[in-house]
Amino acid sequence: MNRILVTGACGQIGSELVGHLSAMAGKRNVISTDIQTAPEIVKSNSQFHYLNVMDVHKLSALVVEHEVDTIFHMAAILSANGEKNPKLAYDVNLQGLVNILEVARLQKIKKVVTPSSIAVFGPDAPKENTPNSTALNPTTMYGVTKAAGEKLLQYYRHKFGLDCRSLRYPGIISSETAPGGGTTDFAVDMYIHAVDGRPYTCFVSENTRLPFMYMDDAIKAILDLAAAPLDNLESQVYNVTALSLTAGDFVRSIQQSLPEFRCDYQPDFRQQIADSWPHNIDDSEARRDWDWQPAYDLDRMSETMIQNLRKAR
Ligand code: SER
Repeated sequence: MNRILVTGACGQIGSELVGHLSAMAGKRNVISTDIQTAPEIVKSNSQFHYLNVMDVHKLSALVVEHEVDTIFHMAAILSANGEKNPKLAYDVNLQGLVNILEVARLQKIKKVVTPSSIAVFGPDAPKENTPNSTALNPTTMYGVTKAAGEKLLQYYRHKFGLDCRSLRYPGIISSETAPGGGTTDFAVDMYIHAVDGRPYTCFVSENTRLPFMYMDDAIKAILDLAAAPLDNLESQVYNVTALSLTAGDFVRSIQQSLPEFRCDYQPDFRQQIADSWPHNIDDSEARRDWDWQPAYDLDRMSETMIQNLRKAR
């Protein structure tokens, strides 16, 4: 990895990924981009530029000017925001990806790494231990764009030999930046409310079970996938997970440190999204091909989240 472009660098994952890439490649070799004002964590670890991934000319110019050879494409509209504005999700998630892949092909980029999601699975996929390969019939626009995006990666790999890799993230739990517009955000919101001493009204029911992962594991996963020798990768897209938790599991875990925390449940349109996704996904292919292994269990994640949020306040 030499010269790295990161899109969506101000997002939940991007903002933390930039620091790790900077530690590995040096600040001047990380070109971070977003349509938002960069937080300090991004500005201090990279060269930041405004970039809307819909602007293929600006994207191409940045790649040429900075002699980029690796792209981490993190920009996306998440599931709940995507249901509020499906056309925007389509444009950003799919046209944005096509722009990245086209520029990567034309500018001879060495590697493109971009997240997919558990949202590629629809209600007909097995709920437990959903395999890496199974029918993809998502019922959200976010899921539709991520599933189509996976097919695009496969197309660019086979047609043009572009090294492009992806991993299907579960809900990501983190404390540095607020998550934006996802269905799994309730879990992060619970920690924030609990540390602030406020009760929380959860938008999915207590027994809603989904796959989750702490941010440090999410960063490790994408960096390990990026670093894996191409010959070891039998798939282009990998399920990755760490935990399978209900909303109630988070509450009980938080209450171990903050016993006064209270949560009630008022499911809204996001319940249907959550109900269409797996409870738990099978990530044995990632474990086999690039030694994927998470480090955080629920208790360690809760302790770290509460500590970090207290420090930040
Ligand atoms: N965390 C994402 C969302 O809830 C799923 O990939 O939209």
